[in-house]
Amino acid sequence: MSNLRRFYDVPKGHQHGEDSLALKFLTINDFKMDGRTVFLRVDINSPIDPTNKTILDDSRIRATRETLDALRNAKVVLGSHQSRPGKEDFTTLEEHASLLRRYCSQEVSFVEDVMGPAARNAIRELKRGQILVLDNLRTCSEETLEAPPERLAKTMMIKRLASVCDFYVNDAFAAAHRTQASLVGFAYILPAAAGRLMEKELKTLNAVLWEPKHPCIYVLGGAKVEDKLPVVESILEEGRADTVILGGLMAKVFLKAKGLELSKGDEEDMAELKEYVLKAKTILDKYHSRIKLPIDLAFSKGNRRFEASVKKIGINEPSLDIGRETTKEYVQTIKESNTIVANGPMGVFEKEGFDNGTKIVLEAIGSSKGTTLIGGGHLAGLANMLGIEDKFSHVSTAGGAMLMMLAGQTLPGVQALVQAAEKYRRQNP
Ligand code: 3PG
Ligand code: MG
Repeated sequence: MSNLRRFYDVPKGHQHGEDSLALKFLTINDFKMDGRTVFLRVDINSPIDPTNKTILDDSRIRATRETLDALRNAKVVLGSHQSRPGKEDFTTLEEHASLLRRYCSQEVSFVEDVMGPAARNAIRELKRGQILVLDNLRTCSEETLEAPPERLAKTMMIKRLASVCDFYVNDAFAAAHRTQASLVGFAYILPAAAGRLMEKELKTLNAVLWEPKHPCIYVLGGAKVEDKLPVVESILEEGRADTVILGGLMAKVFLKAKGLELSKGDEEDMAELKEYVLKAKTILDKYHSRIKLPIDLAFSKGNRRFEASVKKIGINEPSLDIGRETTKEYVQTIKESNTIVANGPMGVFEKEGFDNGTKIVLEAIGSSKGTTLIGGGHLAGLANMLGIEDKFSHVSTAGGAMLMMLAGQTLPGVQALVQAAEKYRRQNP
C-alpha cells in the first residue's frame, strides 16, 4: 500500500488524482520526439485462431491509434510480445503489422528480427513518419527473463536497441504487471514516457482504485487462477470490493474448497490445482458471506445443454457454464451495485450453447447505471461481438494488469516510468 501511494497518491482537493498522476511520470508531450527515433513498447498480444493462425480480434491493435498519431512525425520502432514460447498462438508479428496500417497514417514495415543486424540496420534507415515493427519480442529469450530492472537494463537486447533509439515510450499497460526487459529495462537508459493508452488506462483505473462507489463488486471468471486468487484476497481484505462473484475455473476452485463434490471431469482438473484449492479455503473461511458461488452449473450431455444443482451433480463431463439460477442471482447482484469490475468469462463461452451465463452477465453489467469496468481479451472481444462495447464506463485492454492495479499493487512497468521521470527531473531541473 505504501508503495502504491507514492505512485498514485490522491492529493487533498483533487477528486481523482489525475493531476498527481500526471506529475509522477512523463508523457509524450514532455519531449520533442519529432524526427527522433522512439522505441514504442505496446501490447498487441491478440487472440489467434488455432486453425489458420490469423488474428481473431484486433482491439489491442486499434487501441494504439492515439499514440501512433501523437508520434506521427517521429521514427517509430514498435515492439510487442505475442503469447509465450511453446504455445500455439506464439506467432510472428507480421500480420499485426499489416493490421496496424489500418489505424495510423504512417508507412509501416516489418522486420523478422528483434535486435540483430537486420533490425538495427532497418532502424537506422527509418525516416520521419515511418513505423518499423520488430518481430515478437519473446522470440528473444532475454525478454522472457523475469528479473530486477537494473539487471534487465544490461541485457543485449536493451543495450543493442537503446544504442539506435533516442527515446522510450511505454504504452503496454496490459503487460505492465510483468518485469520483463522491454517493459522495465529501457527506462533505465533512455528518456522515458508513458504513451496515450497507458495514460488513459491509469487515469481511469486510478479513479476506481481510490473512489469506488459502494456497493462495489468484482465479477471474476476465466482461468489464470494463480493471478486472481491474491486479487480476491486483497480486495476483500481491504474493503475495495464488497462482494466477489465467481465463474469459470475460479468458481470451480472455490466450490471444491467449500467441500462440494464436482463432476468427474472437474474433479480431475482440481487434482492439479490442489494448492489453489487450499488457498481458496482460507479465503472462504474469512470472507464466505462476501463471495458468491454458482448454485447450478451447465454441462454438455449428448451434445445438449444440461444443468445440475451444485449440491447434486453426479455427472462425468466438466462444467462449461454457470446455470440459469446462478445467472439470475448474479444479474440481481449486478443491478444492486454501483461499481462493477469484471474480468474473465463465466464458462467456455466459445462453445455453442454455453455462452449464456457470460453473455447475460456481461449485458447486465452493460445496462448498469453504475461505474463499470471490464477487462481481459475474452470480455472485451465478446462486448465487441455483441456491439455493446460503448455501454461500459471503461473497457480496459488489460486483464491481469488491471486487476493487479485495482488490488493496490505496484505495476513494475509503471514503476519504471516513474523512476525514469524522477531521474530525468534530477538531471534537467
Ligand atoms: C496478457 O494478455 O495478459 C498480456 O499480454 C500479458 O501476457 P502474459 O500473461 O503472457 O505475460
Ligand atoms: Mg492474455
